Amino acid sequence: MLIRVRRRSDIPRSEVTPEAVYRRRREFMKGGLALGAGFGLGALGLAGPAAADLRDELEPLEAEPGEFSTDETLTPFEDATTYNNFYELGTGKEDPHRLADRLQTDPWSIRVEGLCDNPGEYALEDFIDPWSLEERIYRLRCVEGWSMVIPWIGFELNRIIDRAEPTGSARYVAFESIHDPDNLPGQRRSVLEWPYVEGLRMDEARHPLTIVSVGMYDHVLPNQNGAPIRLVVPWKYGFKSIKSIVRIRFVEDEPPTSWNRMQPNEYGFYSNVNPDVDHPRWSQATERRIGEFRRRRTEMFNGYGEEVASMYEGMDLTEKY
Ligand code: MTE
Repeated sequence: MLIRVRRRSDIPRSEVTPEAVYRRRREFMKGGLALGAGFGLGALGLAGPAAADLRDELEPLEAEPGEFSTDETLTPFEDATTYNNFYELGTGKEDPHRLADRLQTDPWSIRVEGLCDNPGEYALEDFIDPWSLEERIYRLRCVEGWSMVIPWIGFELNRIIDRAEPTGSARYVAFESIHDPDNLPGQRRSVLEWPYVEGLRMDEARHPLTIVSVGMYDHVLPNQNGAPIRLVVPWKYGFKSIKSIVRIRFVEDEPPTSWNRMQPNEYGFYSNVNPDVDHPRWSQATERRIGEFRRRRTEMFNGYGEEVASMYEGMDLTEKY
């Protein structure tokens, strides 16, 4: 399988954003910025190439329909690729789209290490090759109060875990994103401690809902969405879905996570979507689906409770937020 993201510099000048699209995006951004303030306010930048053009530039990917997909209306590709959180590219919602070409994804390697019998360093293609791809249409709820419905393409993280053969003492899985401050402007500022890190308890990592994604909307992942490979954990706030992964480590103790390290009283390790536990600075009871006007009620575990609630039985989720 060939997974390749064409360089933004390959896009002809004739394909840069038409004025009307640009203006519409600015309108959208104005609405969007009012939604939440917790993740910092970035400056609005100039728009990059039009989303339709971007889609054409990305390699198509085929996938079988997968389990657990919602039949809710998809978030438009344009919104899902121009309103992003990817602090390596900047703190503004439009920065990841505007600066997407700063992320160098070719070549890409992933190291699997730690408490496992079969560690290894893989080129992206070798890492993905054994597995057929599925499409999973998942809701993703950001801690800031907005949500999207995205057709991800990927496979269950469980498959990587099986291949790695973790030892009995491996209780958590730790993930690390790319660290490339020479190219990634956000990493030249200490808004977060770099590289971005995340973690899951072993049962969460092995849960069939947890996927590794290499594409969306029938194409490889755009850089701004975490190319070439990212996590998607749909019952947790969006920041658990770490982008541009270069390292997966099996560990015994709860690993550090970027947002928890930054603001431990605001962002916990578990970060399950929970309308009953407010963020210290805002309510989590409702959300705005991008593209909709009216706010909707946020569901416990982002609506995936039937599948995941049993993993947290007996835990006080106000304490383990
Ligand atoms: N991963 C890395 N490496 N860096 C980030 O800044 N942001 C997180 C998450 N993964 C982030 C990251 C946050 S806050 C969210 S809401 C989701 O990515 C957004 O994913 P999307 O842009 O594909 O919607």
